[in-house]
Amino acid sequence: MTAIAREAGALLVEYFHQGLKIEYKGDADLVTAADRASEVLIRERVAKQFPSHDVQGEEQGLKDRGNEYRWYVDPLDGTTNFAHGYPVFCVSLAVERRSAAAATRVAGVVYDPTRDELFTAEQGKGAQLNGKRIQVSKIGQLKESLLSTGFPSHKRHKNPNIFFYHQITLRTHGVRRAGSAALDLCDVACGRFDGFWEFNLNPWDTAAGVLIVEEAGGKVSGFDGSHFQLNSRETLASNGLLHGALVNEFQEIFAGRGLDPLPDPREYRR
Ligand code: IPD
Ligand code: CA
Ligand code: CA
Repeated sequence: MTAIAREAGALLVEYFHQGLKIEYKGDADLVTAADRASEVLIRERVAKQFPSHDVQGEEQGLKDRGNEYRWYVDPLDGTTNFAHGYPVFCVSLAVERRSAAAATRVAGVVYDPTRDELFTAEQGKGAQLNGKRIQVSKIGQLKESLLSTGFPSHKRHKNPNIFFYHQITLRTHGVRRAGSAALDLCDVACGRFDGFWEFNLNPWDTAAGVLIVEEAGGKVSGFDGSHFQLNSRETLASNGLLHGALVNEFQEIFAGRGLDPLPDPREYRR
C-alpha cells in the first residue's frame, strides 16, 4: 500500500507542476486529469498485486465482486487546493476486511507528496509517520485546543457548518480549514490538531484517516458520540481527552443554546 501511495503521490506532483485544466463535476466540485490518472494507476497496481480485492474509488466508483477485502481510494484528496496551486493534498488508501457479520478497517495509508509525509496504520499495531510511531496530543481543555474542519464543495448552501465554525472558533485557539479531510485526520493523529470535524464526508475521505487516528490513540465518532460508521454523514475526531467536551458543544449548538451572536458588519462599519 505504501509503495502504491508513493507512486500515485509522485504522479500528482508531476501534474501539479504542469498546471492543469479545471473541470467541474458540479457547481463548485472540481476534478482534474490528475484525479483520474491517479485512480487509474492505483487500480492497475491493486489489480496486479491483489487481484481478489475490490476497489471503491472516488472517480470510478465501486466494482463490487463481493470479495473479502475492499479498498477505499481517494486518488487526490484536496482537489480544490491542487487545482489552485495550493500545495495541501494527498493520496488516501484504506483496506477493509468484510464478512457477513462485520467490516473491519485493517490498514490505512495517507501520503502527502509535497512534504513527503507518509502516514500509516495497521489495525492493533499503532500508527506511524514516515515509520516513526505517532500519538495524539495531550491537550485536555477545549480553550487550549487547535481544531480543524472542512466545508463541502457541493450543496454548500445546505451545509450548516459555518455556525459550528463560528461558535467553536470562539471557544478554542482556532479552527483551521486546510482543504484535505484525510490530512486533517492525520494531523489529529500526530498531535498537530487536537480535533477535527466535518459534515457529509465520503468513505474514501475518511477510511484511512479514521484508522490512523484510532491507532494513534484518538477517538472518532458521530457528532453525538455514537459509534463512527464509514457511510455516516458525521465525522468527529479528537485526541480522546476532548471528545466529551466536543460532543457537548455539538449538542449545545444543535439545540441553539449559548450561541454567541455574529457581529453585525453594518454596526462595525459605523
Ligand atoms: C474534499 C476535501 C475537503 C473536504 C471536502 C472533500 P476532494 O475532498 O477532503 O477537505 O472539505 O468535503 O470533498 O474532493 O478534494 O477529494
Ligand atoms: Ca476527498
Ligand atoms: Ca478526491
